[in-house]
Amino acid sequence: MKTNQTFTMIKPDAVANGHIGAILNKITAAGFRISALKMTQLTTADAEAFYAVHNERPFFGELVSFMTSGPIVAAVLEKENAVNDFRTLIGATNPAEAAEGTIRKLYATSMGENAVHGSDSDENAAIEIAFHFSGREQF
Ligand code: RTP
Ligand code: MG
Repeated sequence: MKTNQTFTMIKPDAVANGHIGAILNKITAAGFRISALKMTQLTTADAEAFYAVHNERPFFGELVSFMTSGPIVAAVLEKENAVNDFRTLIGATNPAEAAEGTIRKLYATSMGENAVHGSDSDENAAIEIAFHFSGREQF
């Protein structure tokens, strides 16, 4: 199991609000290497599969509808302790509770539309990376 990789998406709100460049800059300034990158749009089936762990939650329909509402930017990030360090960089799920200087504090609009995704474990990072990128899209 790799411990130096995580997976992120810049979500439709942050893409629509013009924050792709600023967010990628924060990520590289924090010491992450981008080893895969693409702009794409999730289908309903993609979003349902990606967030399957939440399919019993009351916000699932809203989450799928939001995540398919426009393009996203998907990336693989590398750094020692990548999963935990990236969760620290993005801040709490609810931007109102996110620490100063975090990506969600700076760029998220609400709990649902919170600018970025970050994997929550090494195991899920590996699953999410394989979901979005083939081997020859990773460098
Ligand atoms: P993510 O997976 O997107 O990185 O976010 P997270 O770990 O911080 O939060 P998680 O609990 O995994 O929830 C996934 C996404 O579902 C939306 N959500 N909405 N309205 C709500 O109460 C609610 N709770 C969660 C958010 O977009 C959250 O990022
Ligand atoms: Mg999560």
